[in-house]
Amino acid sequence: MNILILSGSPRKNGNTDLLVEAFCKGASEKHHVEVVSVHDYTVHPCMGCNACFTNESNTCVQKDDMYVIYSKLANADMLVIASPVYFYGLSAQLKAVIDRCHNPIRDTFHIRKAALLLVGAASLPELFDSILKQYQLCINYFHIEDMGHVLVRGAKEKGGVRGTKVLEEAEALGQTV
Ligand SMILES: Cc1cc2nc3c(=O)[nH]c(=O)nc-3n(C[C@H](O)[C@H](O)[C@H](O)COP(=O)(O)O)c2cc1C
Repeated sequence: MNILILSGSPRKNGNTDLLVEAFCKGASEKHHVEVVSVHDYTVHPCMGCNACFTNESNTCVQKDDMYVIYSKLANADMLVIASPVYFYGLSAQLKAVIDRCHNPIRDTFHIRKAALLLVGAASLPELFDSILKQYQLCINYFHIEDMGHVLVRGAKEKGGVRGTKVLEEAEALGQTV
């Protein structure tokens, strides 16, 4: 498979990046894996104008880096969403990329599998509830199969997950997809 990982943390080499690295280590044994750290791309939020649904070329009126990400999404068989928890949600950088998929170009995508890597500072049982709900509703809508999650609580400082068993979990998930 071509696996595309959309990694949402602006903090380089932080906990999300470490989870992504571990997942890649496992998944690269059998698959081609590409990581897009969305913070490295300029992607403006969707303006809701719906011009992409009405103009002939289905292009977005915003000329930014989203076109690079569209082509990567179009080549992907599996999508991995990796994010820090920001106020019980995904990072804004990642949400902007997801919202820009409100575009008919998504009909050219053939993503059939997905997985989720999340990390937050709190140890609350409900920490991931809203993201998990949103993820489940979206994959149901697009008939995408869930391949699993790694959900990490209690990691606040940069590199807090280093040397912990959650990295083994992420690597194992990569091996099983
Ligand atoms: C803007 C912002 C909002 C955050 N909101 C939450 C939150 O709602 N719950 C939580 O447990 N941690 C929250 N955190 C902490 C991060 O999720 C945590 O530090 C995580 O390890 C960051 O991952 P990273 O190293 O990949 O950036 C927040 C951090 C930031 C910067």
